[in-house]
Amino acid sequence: MSEKILVIGANGQIGTELVAALRGVYGIDAIIASDIREPNYPTSKNNGPFEIVNVLDDDNLRKVFIKHQPTQVYLLAAILSAIGEQKPKLAWDLNMSGLLHVLDLAVEFKVAKVFWPSSIAVFGPHSPQFNTPQYCVMDPNTVYGFSKLAGERWCEYYFTKYGLDVRSLRYPGLIGWRANPGGGTTDYAVQIFHEALRNGTYECFLSANTALPMMYMDDAIRATLSLMDAPPDKIKIRSSYNLAGISITPAALASEIKKHIPDFEISFAEHDPRQAIADSWPKSIDDSAAQTDWAWALEYDLPKIVEDMLKNLKSII
Ligand code: SER
Repeated sequence: MSEKILVIGANGQIGTELVAALRGVYGIDAIIASDIREPNYPTSKNNGPFEIVNVLDDDNLRKVFIKHQPTQVYLLAAILSAIGEQKPKLAWDLNMSGLLHVLDLAVEFKVAKVFWPSSIAVFGPHSPQFNTPQYCVMDPNTVYGFSKLAGERWCEYYFTKYGLDVRSLRYPGLIGWRANPGGGTTDYAVQIFHEALRNGTYECFLSANTALPMMYMDDAIRATLSLMDAPPDKIKIRSSYNLAGISITPAALASEIKKHIPDFEISFAEHDPRQAIADSWPKSIDDSAAQTDWAWALEYDLPKIVEDMLKNLKSII
């Protein structure tokens, strides 16, 4: 069967990379990129199909489904943790109604597979902080976190109730050079590279020893494609799979950057609201279910991430 893959939220940090990766696998015309705004690249011919989509507008979304009859849908449009605390109702509405619109249309249009990202933000202050297991106490205290947790329950529900093949990953903080993150708590781990190259200094909004699970974008995209390629019977978890990456602190990231840019200096801001969010999240994650079920294996450790980020960013900054 020839695939038509609709990516919603294609302009974001993950979407930008995922569209490129999917076009590499399925061909340019098989991937319909879509977002609420025009992308910052030309959408004519060679760059592939693009649609303006607002996931809160059911009619607009339906027209895109009718026009393209997607066989797979990736729903990436969301408001992240830090912006979500500034706009709690909008974050809840976008993250929840957007998901439900897409799940309903996916059932109606008999979409073969749906991908929806969850996050380490589904865990909360009473979850185990180290090597956080797949199943444990979950008491997220950000709107983003509990919208993702509720979304996971909906995904599992649509699988059980309607047989929709929906798959999901709990991404750690993602580090990549092709696109910037938009309003999350882990954004520091991308900003630090830009500032190190531009100014040689960075004021970090998280404290030096705030450990969080992080992953290089290449690993995250590979995990996503491999989850989506796995035979359905290998997908034992229909809520969302833990994905570990590696546990990184701002201090450790800065000292690895210093190996390449010896004059780089990091300083730390006080009283940033994102600190409390980071403190409520796991410091490290157990992703043994992903390893067992669909053979997940991480490639990028901290030195490899830093080397690759600096090499690539240097060429575009
Ligand atoms: N990286 C996201 C954030 O910081 C978490 O999924 O909000």
